Amino acid sequence: MIALPDFPWDTLAEAAATATAHPGGVVDLSVGTPVDPVAPTIRDALASVSEIPGYPQTHGTPALRAAAIDALRRRHGVTGLEPDAVLPTIGSKELVAWLPKLLGLGAGDTVVIPELSYPTYEVGALLAGASVLRADSLVALGPMRPAMIWLNSPSNPTGRVLGPEHLRKVVDWARERDVLVVSDECYLALGWTGEPVSILHPSVNDGRMDGLLAVHSLSKTASLASYRAGFVTGDPAVVARLLEVRKHAGMIVPRPVQEAMKVALGDDEVLRAQRERYARRRLVLQKALLDNGFQIDHSEAGLYLWATRGEDAWQTVAWLAGRGILVAPGTFYGPRGGKHVRVALTATDERVEAAAERLG
Ligand SMILES: Cc1ncc(COP(=O)(O)O)c(C=O)c1O
Repeated sequence: MIALPDFPWDTLAEAAATATAHPGGVVDLSVGTPVDPVAPTIRDALASVSEIPGYPQTHGTPALRAAAIDALRRRHGVTGLEPDAVLPTIGSKELVAWLPKLLGLGAGDTVVIPELSYPTYEVGALLAGASVLRADSLVALGPMRPAMIWLNSPSNPTGRVLGPEHLRKVVDWARERDVLVVSDECYLALGWTGEPVSILHPSVNDGRMDGLLAVHSLSKTASLASYRAGFVTGDPAVVARLLEVRKHAGMIVPRPVQEAMKVALGDDEVLRAQRERYARRRLVLQKALLDNGFQIDHSEAGLYLWATRGEDAWQTVAWLAGRGILVAPGTFYGPRGGKHVRVALTATDERVEAAAERLG
């Protein structure tokens, strides 16, 4: 058996029990699972091909790949992508967890992940038998040459946005050393006071895709977490390698989900409406936290508020659980998260209002 860290959410059971016992019911702002119903147009798309019996294409339909390229161009100014360089994934978590393995990394390879980050980057390196190094700056890497660097802007959990200059420096450094840069951009469309930019934007990559991958998800932008819908794109040679392995391994997005993704990627109104909901909830929670002794750091984009009361994260988790509000301790995301909690914006308006009242 490969030794993996304890599954973090299991350790939240006690706080969850306390929060659930609140007479007004729990306000769950922990995992960050979408609560808004899937748009009718997307559900119709799913159903519209549900009679097809045959195996779907691992590469996704040409129409889906074209829709992904169009969406990246329209929404994020990404140009120069080839249709063959788009590969649908069964949500982005499975890709994050298996990418190092699918690329053939193993013992002796190092995967660099952000100091505070989504736990699955570490899990992916461990599944491949590679080493993990937490670092937010190139200086921290010294003379070493990692196999791969993960970036995540806007960040889970901090909501920090890396500007184009920062991204460019990483890309230039990595290209000089033939290191793959993988940018997890699942919150790219959720900029609030910060303006997230894709690693595939010409201001970052000089219009070249070599050595770069961007990972995208429809879970949050189209409220499609239940469908398991994501894609990876960038360097055509790397994507071709991934396609080859994924064909062998049966890592295929179901055909109805491919159709739903195509429609979701073409529908900017679904994204606009979802953004508006999260923006509203964010303002309510931000004000309630700030008015009641919390400090909020970063959080200029993404789906979370990175909040602190200057005390141990678990104390804050317990304090909030006593008010029926469940959040994640910052320690889930790395040792540097010891004084923060991550507050997700993913609850209904009614639950978010309840949280604000309880904080007051
Ligand atoms: C940074 C980051 N990457 C990837 C994922 C995985 O999302 P999904 O598998 O739903 O696409 C998440 C989920 O919360 C995330 O926060």
